Amino acid sequence: MNYIDYSEIFRIYSKWDVPDEVILHMFRVAELVRKLLLRIVGNEEKLDLLIKAALLHDVGKALVKREILNKPGKLTTEEFEEMKRHVEFTVQILLEEKIDHRIIGYVQRHHERNNGSGYPNGLTKLSKLDEILAICDIYDAVTSNRPYRNKLSQKEAAEIIYDKKNAFDINFSKLLFDYLNEDEIYKTQCSVSWIFIKMLIITFTLMLVWNII
Ligand SMILES: [Fe+2]
Repeated sequence: MNYIDYSEIFRIYSKWDVPDEVILHMFRVAELVRKLLLRIVGNEEKLDLLIKAALLHDVGKALVKREILNKPGKLTTEEFEEMKRHVEFTVQILLEEKIDHRIIGYVQRHHERNNGSGYPNGLTKLSKLDEILAICDIYDAVTSNRPYRNKLSQKEAAEIIYDKKNAFDINFSKLLFDYLNEDEIYKTQCSVSWIFIKMLIITFTLMLVWNII
């Protein structure tokens, strides 16, 4: 894998005063993108480009008014239009920072949907990598606490993503939820193993205390 220059990423966060919650969201999305891409993409350069796009895709939120970004209630139509401009602001920032044009392309399309319902351009055909970034973004957004709502469960998130008719290729939605289900099984197996190890330690300790061994 090529080297992702995290110092460059953090320099951009710091220079543009990107809010902490936005940075955390971008890191979670990047991690999810990395895990999904490792399953389907053989091209390591594309993998790094998309991870970098994930790490930068919302930096333009730094230029959205904080009272809109942190509003604890539903946004008005005008406020939502202003919020949507974060894509345009992100592109401006990344152009100024001379980021690779392919990364800027992924970032510019992260709110587009296959059925034309997305923004800013209402595109109707996304690439495989565009869809992965968009799905990971929406998954993390709905499963995180926001000022205007509590986080949703994985099941509720699945329903939202599957319900977005023709917005995403069903295969990519499946890729995400297959991964999450396997990860859940892995975590359960780890916790079961850990309980078993703890029981063994307690048993041996008690046997020692009681001079059985
Ligand atoms: Fe966004």
